[in-house]
Amino acid sequence: MPDPRILILATGGTIAGVAGSATRHDYRPGQIGIDDYLAKVEAIGLPATLEGRQIANVGSEDMSPAIWARLHAEIAAAFADDACDGIVVTHGTDTAEETAFLLDLTLPSDKPVVLVGAMRPADAVGYDGLRNFANAVRVAGDRRAAGRGVLVVMGDRVFAARDVRKVRTRGSEDAFRGFPRGSVALVTPSALEWFGAPWRSDNCARHALPAEMPEVPILYVHAGLEPGMVDRLTGPRTRGIVVAGVGEGNMPEPVRGKLAALAAQGLAVVRASRVDEGLVDREPDDESNRFVAARAFNPQKARLLLQLLLANGRRDPAAIQAGFDDPYA
Ligand code: SIN
Repeated sequence: MPDPRILILATGGTIAGVAGSATRHDYRPGQIGIDDYLAKVEAIGLPATLEGRQIANVGSEDMSPAIWARLHAEIAAAFADDACDGIVVTHGTDTAEETAFLLDLTLPSDKPVVLVGAMRPADAVGYDGLRNFANAVRVAGDRRAAGRGVLVVMGDRVFAARDVRKVRTRGSEDAFRGFPRGSVALVTPSALEWFGAPWRSDNCARHALPAEMPEVPILYVHAGLEPGMVDRLTGPRTRGIVVAGVGEGNMPEPVRGKLAALAAQGLAVVRASRVDEGLVDREPDDESNRFVAARAFNPQKARLLLQLLLANGRRDPAAIQAGFDDPYA
């Protein structure tokens, strides 16, 4: 078997970060360019042919719709290129789950697309980036990764974009988790074990990536939240709002009333939870309030999904709810 040909799209993050000292914490992400990074990787001798392209070199807090559009176009071109077997995207860990989910919903799934990051900068003691990178290349070179949507490799675990979330701010072990389904494979540079069959019923993209994403803020609920905050967050361009509610997507009664009035005027309102593993199911009042339940999606993923549903013509709460019940239908 010839070595797989993997396209590396670099966007920055800690995996390309440096501190200038092996022990400093105040490092800067997105410092090493892709050519220098691949020169470092060459020493490992991975059984793959790698081609690198720099898309951006930012800390992932600066990930933006413009960078997403470039990334999306590059990956779509790679799908059409017979000389490419799989794609690895190097990315900061802070918003990797958002980029992965957005790409997952807007790209076909017939070639592997794998996001990878690191929790420690490249010159730190215990840099995790090279192992993660080697693992990601291994996954991207495996035809069995196709049909599973966009994947995220962190440590020796592989996660599906729909489930993955960052759960720790420090340390490289267990910084990511899959919810509600856990990881989908175990990988090392020399082995890859998938835990189940591909789950996409076909490989088509589920939604078109719009030229402009509709305005959808997130309302973070806390004890004592006043309904006036809803007014401060929404304006004439706002098309929807995601509530990062307490518990199962709950909010103070005056806030609920305010949002129900806006939903009656056509604003899409999605109830998610600020709880890390917060499953939000429909409750009896959702029907009359015209609210949507985010199910297992955390607020930041619920926001992206709502933006795509709105941009692709879903207006009615029942149609938006169906998009949350199964975004891959
Ligand atoms: C970032 O997300 O760019 C910084 C943090 C990281 O990559 O771990």
